[in-house]
Amino acid sequence: MIKELVYKNRSYRRFHQNEKISMETLEELVDLARHSACGANLQSLKYILSCDPQTNELIFKRLGWAAYLTDWKGPSEGEKPAAYVVLMGDTSIHNDFFCDHGIACQSMLLGAVEKSLGGCILASINRDGLRKDLSIDDKFEILLVLALGRPSEKVKLEYIESSEGIQYWRDENNVHHVPKRPLEEIIIQKHN
Ligand SMILES: Cc1cc2nc3c(=O)[nH]c(=O)nc-3n(C[C@H](O)[C@H](O)[C@H](O)COP(=O)(O)O)c2cc1C
Repeated sequence: MIKELVYKNRSYRRFHQNEKISMETLEELVDLARHSACGANLQSLKYILSCDPQTNELIFKRLGWAAYLTDWKGPSEGEKPAAYVVLMGDTSIHNDFFCDHGIACQSMLLGAVEKSLGGCILASINRDGLRKDLSIDDKFEILLVLALGRPSEKVKLEYIESSEGIQYWRDENNVHHVPKRPLEEIIIQKHN
């Protein structure tokens, strides 16, 4: 059911690090992205895949995690992602990537959730550092990183009143809570 899949598809930031994700699984996820909509059907997105612990560490250290959780420095050893997909735009095809990378991430995340995996989209990236570490050619614009693994954390949706804060938070049991605005607030016109 799509509703179940979308509701379950939260941003997970803590994982069972030692549970490997195979290259075949990563390729299956990119294949979902490949079959997703993209501006002018240009298919300008290119991908770097990693399920190798050493490369994972290079990627990990270039990422910024959960800015609202100011006293949390990101996943610690043992709960880091088991794999990554780096999404890049190929400027030799076009230099506007529309919202293709967002759509691609959502397709891959839904595919991951269906496999009892989960992940987090990251835009907070030290792009110069990552480019250097992975020897990424200048013609590729680094757009997003998708971190993946089998989640080890519990994430709970919260339905807030319009006046309440949207910042996610963790409770005393380390459960991550994600507030969502009500439908009535976000639909601003209805024409029946
Ligand atoms: C375009 C985009 C960029 C994001 N960048 C980051 C990031 O750099 N670091 C991070 O920890 N989470 C990042 N997130 C995850 C959001 O914080 C998360 O989607 C939001 O808190 C709502 O939680 P949910 O995905 O469980 O609904 C990003 C999400 C999107 C869609």
